[in-house]
Amino acid sequence: MLQIRNLKTHFFTRGGVAAAVDDVSIRIPPRSIVGVVGESGCGKSVTALSVLQLVSRPGKIVSGSILLDGEELIGKPSKQMRRIRGNKISMIFQEPMTSLNPVYTVGRQVAETMILHRGASKAEAMDRTVEMFRAVGIPAPEKRLKSFPHQLSGGLRQRVMIAMAMACKPSLMIADEPTTALDVTIEAQILHLMKELERDMGTSIMMITHNMGVVAELCDYVYVMYAGKVMEHAGIFDLFDHTKHPYTQGLLNSIPKPSGVRGRLFNIEGMVPSLLRLPKGCRFSPRCEQAVRECFESEPGLYAVSPGHGVRCFLYRDCGDGGEAI
Ligand SMILES: Nc1ncnc2c1ncn2[C@@H]1O[C@H](COP(=O)(O)OP(=O)(O)OP(=O)(O)O)[C@@H](O)[C@H]1O
Ligand code: SF4
Ligand SMILES: [Mg+2]
Repeated sequence: MLQIRNLKTHFFTRGGVAAAVDDVSIRIPPRSIVGVVGESGCGKSVTALSVLQLVSRPGKIVSGSILLDGEELIGKPSKQMRRIRGNKISMIFQEPMTSLNPVYTVGRQVAETMILHRGASKAEAMDRTVEMFRAVGIPAPEKRLKSFPHQLSGGLRQRVMIAMAMACKPSLMIADEPTTALDVTIEAQILHLMKELERDMGTSIMMITHNMGVVAELCDYVYVMYAGKVMEHAGIFDLFDHTKHPYTQGLLNSIPKPSGVRGRLFNIEGMVPSLLRLPKGCRFSPRCEQAVRECFESEPGLYAVSPGHGVRCFLYRDCGDGGEAI
């Protein structure tokens, strides 16, 4: 379905070149939900925007390949790309206002995507919009159809966008932190809807999140990113039961424990480095409790700890190269 290979997307800023996506390979097979996780600034959104060919200046895709059903997306004319977006791929953006048009009612916008991409009649599209609004937990959906985006709260706008992304039944949905702004009940409802979408429509989902709880709930396969690189990728059970990378271990330790267990949450010490001032060697080394001398000198490759499980860390070098996603 989607194969991202050795993707490099850089930002050419005054201060220097920031390699936001630095040789990333991700594979999203048909009928699967693939998580992309990592702390803020590690390149998750830029990866998603690269797939949609929506990286804007000073950013640029420098090299790599993005195949959707065998078709190269990099360099595709914008007219063809527009047809692919909304038809084959739909996206839920982190910031809903970026994809809602302020001058049209939300009902019209959602209905129009269905008319345009699915050939629905106006009446059908309106009925289905009400149905979708109800499904994503928008109260009084018939009334809300007539609202303009600015009349809705952030949470409601997010739900409108999720309804819009689901309405055209895309074959791939890219969801960038779709539930971060929502309360836990609505979040559970929406995750459930996404799972249904995958099961009933065969939609594959690329789920971008920094929430390991969401990953555990939803994903079949996971890529852990750090400062522009994939650090570990594995099936969901391997990732949780046979966690290898020290960074992934840190992220998993940061998950809130079930209620009743009190105390401070574990946090990975330190911060994600600036892409303009990456440390020498392994980019996680300044924060890694298991670092050895070599980690400060050279960059680890991706090693294959088991089939389908790759780890970018010197601790697994004995496993041999070949932990690539593809
Ligand atoms: N418009 C821009 N100009 C310059 N650099 C940018 C721009 N957009 C992104 N970057 C660089 O790309 C890096 C990755 O950004 P990205 O938005 O992909 O992070 P993210 O993983 O989605 O984080 P978050 O969890 O906060 O959404 C940023 O840290 C920044 O260095
Ligand atoms: S390579 Fe070294 S610094 Fe990097 S994650 Fe592994 S042990 Fe830590
Ligand atoms: Mg982001």
